[in-house]
Amino acid sequence: METSLDGKITGPFMQAADDNYQGDGDLFYHIAFDDDGYYHPQGWLSGRTTTDDNFTHYAKPQLDENAAPVPDGDFIPTTIAPQYYISIDPHGKLAWTTNQMTFMATTAQVLEVLTSQVSNAYKAFLRQLDIPYIIAGDTELDAPLAMKKLKDLFHMETVMLGGGGVLNWSFIQQGLCDELSLVLSNAADGSTDTPTLFSAVPGLSSTTPRTFTLKNVEAHDNFVWLRYLIDPKK
Ligand SMILES: NC(=O)c1ccc[n+]([C@@H]2O[C@H](COP(=O)([O-])OP(=O)(O)OC[C@H]3O[C@@H](n4cnc5c(N)ncnc54)[C@H](OP(=O)(O)O)[C@@H]3O)[C@@H](O)[C@H]2O)c1
Repeated sequence: METSLDGKITGPFMQAADDNYQGDGDLFYHIAFDDDGYYHPQGWLSGRTTTDDNFTHYAKPQLDENAAPVPDGDFIPTTIAPQYYISIDPHGKLAWTTNQMTFMATTAQVLEVLTSQVSNAYKAFLRQLDIPYIIAGDTELDAPLAMKKLKDLFHMETVMLGGGGVLNWSFIQQGLCDELSLVLSNAADGSTDTPTLFSAVPGLSSTTPRTFTLKNVEAHDNFVWLRYLIDPKK
């Protein structure tokens, strides 16, 4: 994750950082995505709001309510892609137009994580676009089951928890994240209505405090890269 000095993950600070060309976004990208970067994840998870803000832009999917019933269960591709954009979409809202997405120089196969409450019409829509999906949970996301399916069905060993703050905090509270990687920008905007690195949402996560053990600090000109281990729950 990349944050402002005041812990925001999006908002006016980003433009200010870009205008001054500080390179924090480049470092963020390098760590997570470059071949000679640090993590080499086989997939990265994104919350539904992050996907709508950046890729699907809150469009409504064109659904065929009379689509033939799709087979029960997951929709798994016959060949596994080298990298997946794993979209947490428990209600089936996202209006994808293609089964690939591009973030800077990285292109990844879209993979949707749904719950059983998602309609037949939405699953038929994904099948038509050849977008694989897994089902984890009945009405609420079963995040441990989703992670198990990513490993068992897609052979993923390393997955990046890629934000936003709601997704991050819900996975950390459930003990599903072992390391925090943070590029701290040298910009801030003091806004009070933009998302922060971690956000508790009633029904998804609590405000139970967690602690972190600092593992490494690297200074890069005006910004720093911090790595923490996430301490087990007391
Ligand atoms: N600076 C960075 O490094 C960085 C990285 C990523 C994202 N971002 C920014 O972060 C912003 C969005 O962050 P956000 O915190 O508002 O939202 P978010 O975490 O991206 O998405 C929240 C939504 O995802 C679904 N979701 C997440 N966790 C879930 C869980 N455990 N169980 C069930 N559903 C879950 C829910 O979708 P439904 O509402 O459909 O139920 C929830 O409302 C965007 O503007 C994005 O650009 C910044």
